Amino acid sequence: MEDSLVVAIDQGTTSARAVVFNSYTLPVAAYQFELTQITPNPGWIEQDPKQLVEACRTCLMNVGHQLAAKNIPASRVKAIGIANQRETSVLWDRRTGEPVANAIVWSDTRTEPLVEEMRKLPGADQVQDICGLHLNAYFAALKVRWLLDHNENARRVYNEGELCFGTVDSWLIYALSGGATHITDASNASRSMLLNLKEMRYDERLIEFFGFEKLILPEIKPSSEVYGKYHAPGDDLHGTPISGCVGDQSSALVGHMGFNKGDAKNTYGTGCFLHYNTGETPVFSKNGLLTTIAYQLPGQPPTYALEGSVAVCGSAIKWLKNNLGMIETSEQVGDLIESVPNSAGVYFVTAFSGLFSPYWRADARGTIVGITSYTNRAHIVRSAIEAVCFQTRAIFQLMEYENEIQGGVSNMTRDRILSVDGGLTSSDVIMQLQADILGVNIVRPAMKEVTALGAGIMAGLAVGVWKDLADVTMRHSLSEGSMSRFTPHSSAEQRRQGFHQWQRAVERATGWIEA
Ligand code: G3P
Repeated sequence: MEDSLVVAIDQGTTSARAVVFNSYTLPVAAYQFELTQITPNPGWIEQDPKQLVEACRTCLMNVGHQLAAKNIPASRVKAIGIANQRETSVLWDRRTGEPVANAIVWSDTRTEPLVEEMRKLPGADQVQDICGLHLNAYFAALKVRWLLDHNENARRVYNEGELCFGTVDSWLIYALSGGATHITDASNASRSMLLNLKEMRYDERLIEFFGFEKLILPEIKPSSEVYGKYHAPGDDLHGTPISGCVGDQSSALVGHMGFNKGDAKNTYGTGCFLHYNTGETPVFSKNGLLTTIAYQLPGQPPTYALEGSVAVCGSAIKWLKNNLGMIETSEQVGDLIESVPNSAGVYFVTAFSGLFSPYWRADARGTIVGITSYTNRAHIVRSAIEAVCFQTRAIFQLMEYENEIQGGVSNMTRDRILSVDGGLTSSDVIMQLQADILGVNIVRPAMKEVTALGAGIMAGLAVGVWKDLADVTMRHSLSEGSMSRFTPHSSAEQRRQGFHQWQRAVERATGWIEA
């Protein structure tokens, strides 16, 4: 019998990709489309919602052509899944399906003053207990509030009761299905700041707090279910069920087969996101971690995760290249790191737009400390990468601690393993540095399309490509190839000392922006 295929769209911050997987979870075709970042003011990052849709359509058309070139009929593609940049928010008019403004991207910091104002409002102290997230410019509700306050078009359509809200998943599924459906999945809903995490419904107190009474919200669905069909007359994949949807960072956890409580992964993309599966129980952090939904299978309770978010990761390399000219290509980073034994006392807090987990300091800005006349560009480049590794350590330690105090079983604690994926992980040097700073074994799978795979799995499960998670895991294990493992070479004292210095640097970076 012919093997079934699924296609997954990974709609990230900087690019969209479509990847076709076979039932052994191996990629058979892929296509990428670079996205335009619109930056009208410092700290503002927008995207054209129509380009996001166009990117997906182009990717789907091209993987369709690749399959045709290999004589693989499109009918073997049974489902489309979507993994998306989370929190990035789109508003559109229900009557026309037209966006009323550009999407505001997750890392946009324009709402920081609004956050400060809202922190003083009655009810602000309950927000995290309800939705698991800190009041922060990062999350969708703040972006929508800002648009309603500043965009006349958005306000008019809102007052007419016709304004639809969606994070990127919701917008894409709406547009790709030809306007047939307005939904979101549980993982994305958990980033809206409107979800009651325990009860799995939009919370009236949060709707009122943000003033969204007339906003049309997407229906919350499991991450795996047929939501609609791809509407693209003339395209080979026209009519294919869209049946998987999961936020990209959760999708990577799924792609790592992180289905068990205690499984953990870190994805090093534009930002860097660590997820720790806490099973069917949401763990509410007291120390700056986020509580989020990893994914939800139909008819089952959601699988929750603790999350640590690092705003700057791959974007630090871009900055070193484009703004400082310190490197010409990303590949040079590994060589520069290796060219020096350490960063010679230089610590770099890459808080370009404040610091995310576990610090949550919007008033922090990028800070380099410890420069001497001996410092050279290798030290600066190394310290920028170390910043990602140190922040990962800060998060990882807390995940172990919070899990332990709440009585959980931790694979991290038991096996001291962190699964990794994302652009930065292609460098062995960087992964060794991470292992040395963290003091745990880093495991990198051979198959790189981990984020896309998660959405592919969710889509395939809904249409019977796989029977259940055990079936996926079994087939994956037959094809996964050899993993790379990075074992710490540092001593516990070296790690403690390095982290102590990093924390001191963080103290200097915070409080820089005056309220
Ligand atoms: O929360 C933001 C995140 O989903 C963006 O991921 O991979 O596009 O940087 P990425």
